[in-house]
Amino acid sequence: MTKPLRKAVLPVAGLGTRFLPATKAMPKEMLPVVDRPLIQYAIDEAREAGIEEFCLITGRGKDSLIDYFDVAFELDVTLRERNKVEALKALEPSSIEAGSLIAVRQQEPLGLGHAIWCARSFIGDDPFAILLPDDVVKSGTSCLKQLADAYYATGGSVVAVEEVPREHTSRYGILKPGHDDGRMVEITGLVEKPKPEEAPSNLSIIGRYILTPEVMPHLAKLEKGAGGEVQLTDAMAKIIGHVPFHGLRYEGHRFDCGNKSGFLEAQIAFALDRPELADDVRAFLKKYN
Ligand code: UTP
Repeated sequence: MTKPLRKAVLPVAGLGTRFLPATKAMPKEMLPVVDRPLIQYAIDEAREAGIEEFCLITGRGKDSLIDYFDVAFELDVTLRERNKVEALKALEPSSIEAGSLIAVRQQEPLGLGHAIWCARSFIGDDPFAILLPDDVVKSGTSCLKQLADAYYATGGSVVAVEEVPREHTSRYGILKPGHDDGRMVEITGLVEKPKPEEAPSNLSIIGRYILTPEVMPHLAKLEKGAGGEVQLTDAMAKIIGHVPFHGLRYEGHRFDCGNKSGFLEAQIAFALDRPELADDVRAFLKKYN
């Protein structure tokens, strides 16, 4: 029987060097798109997929991410006294049921695979989702919900994929496709950051995964891969052929908020969705065109 998906791991221990100096004293995942930090988009997406338990993989200087999910008691009382209904409503999504959020320390950013291995006690023997908060996905149905539906249909691991220009394959985890129905593609191989001439396709994994726990013993070997980091892709490659493993061409648009142009594009796209901002944004975009 397919186990229900209830757990999500959110790695936030990276250094965010591409956003220095902004990230010198502030975690990248707290940077806002319009008025919500990146981490909030990931939490909202996960909740829509039925996730109930969250594990943040944090590191030095990342404590504000944990504080963000606290009850801000003084703020709450003041807003209530002043009857600031809208502001109180804006705070609601940042509250998480007591005991449903834990944080695990990754003492050194040794790679995404290492970050996930740090969550081994939380994961136990259950399927789990991974959301990289610097990928923000704008979609009708939450991207993770689309993956969860595919997980329940196949009973195996599923990752969100999209086509990337061939010359960019060396930035991503790339899959070797098997049977492909145009939406779901069977994964027969995985390579982290291949050169364009060596890439088995141009289908890249974005920062959304649902994995079954069979991947954990492979991660536990902590073998270093591309860039000298412990790569999640390498451990995932080891379970191919043992459990069903598919890529899902998700419906929606991903903004790579880990890089500056993707982050700026996300600001525009999400602001245009806000009735109170859309006209102003359109007007100033014309001005700078
Ligand atoms: P990135 O490589 O995109 O993030 O990792 P980074 O290292 O923070 O950013 P740059 O490249 O220096 O600008 C993708 C995600 O994995 C997490 C990051 O926090 C980010 O959410 N991560 C990465 C970890 O938690 N631990 C690691 O060792 C590496």
